[in-house]
Amino acid sequence: MLLYEGKAKQVYSTENENEYVVYYKDDATAFNGEKKASIASKGILNNKICTIMFETLEKAGIKTHFIKALSDREQLVKKVTILPLEVIIRNITAGSFCKRYGVEEGIVLDKPIFEMSYKNDEYGDPLINDDHAVALKLATQEEIDYIRAQTLKINEIMKEFFLKMDLKLVDFKLEFGKDADGNIILADEISPDTCRLWDVNTNEKLDKDRFRRDLGDLVQGYEEVLSRMNK
Ligand code: C5P
Repeated sequence: MLLYEGKAKQVYSTENENEYVVYYKDDATAFNGEKKASIASKGILNNKICTIMFETLEKAGIKTHFIKALSDREQLVKKVTILPLEVIIRNITAGSFCKRYGVEEGIVLDKPIFEMSYKNDEYGDPLINDDHAVALKLATQEEIDYIRAQTLKINEIMKEFFLKMDLKLVDFKLEFGKDADGNIILADEISPDTCRLWDVNTNEKLDKDRFRRDLGDLVQGYEEVLSRMNK
């Protein structure tokens, strides 16, 4: 049964009450849904890339919702309740950081910046701090501390992983969920829809900015990321 339909994915219940199936669609949206398109095979590429990312993180000791890939577009995952937080790490300036603070794109930050947004389309996913998140009862301070520590760890693993394939991990967004036992685990997806990835030598953008800013064929960029992962 379809439980939830997001911009790029659908979530289905299964016969096992502790498991869901995530289906990756071809839809792309940007600017909170203002720009929309269907891009053939994007869902397949994201499912494949995300599968490799979750497997890599699990191997490095990070607990995620990922169980296994079921098909070209489907993943079996653990049932979690998603926390309404979008967690972002920035290693290099880009995107909304540049726009909000009037900073040039491409500046390597002295240390990673950890950001949180309140996941709420109606209010445009506003940036929040720990106190906001606790006051809004989105998470407890202990949960936020844990999420921050996990996210910084994930950043180190992913940065090294991508650098090996000559990709700079500029920034990325994560979402966490709570499982049946109350444990917080990494959920949602990790793909070029949710990460900025630039070629180390040319700074060519191989992520969703190709769609957001009309920088070139999106599928070609995602295929390049996947082929470097499979080398
Ligand atoms: O737009 P912004 O610069 O804040 O995005 C930072 C990172 O988070 C980018 O890698 C972007 O792809 C990702 N992001 C996302 N979903 C959102 C907002 C940002 O995946 N709703």
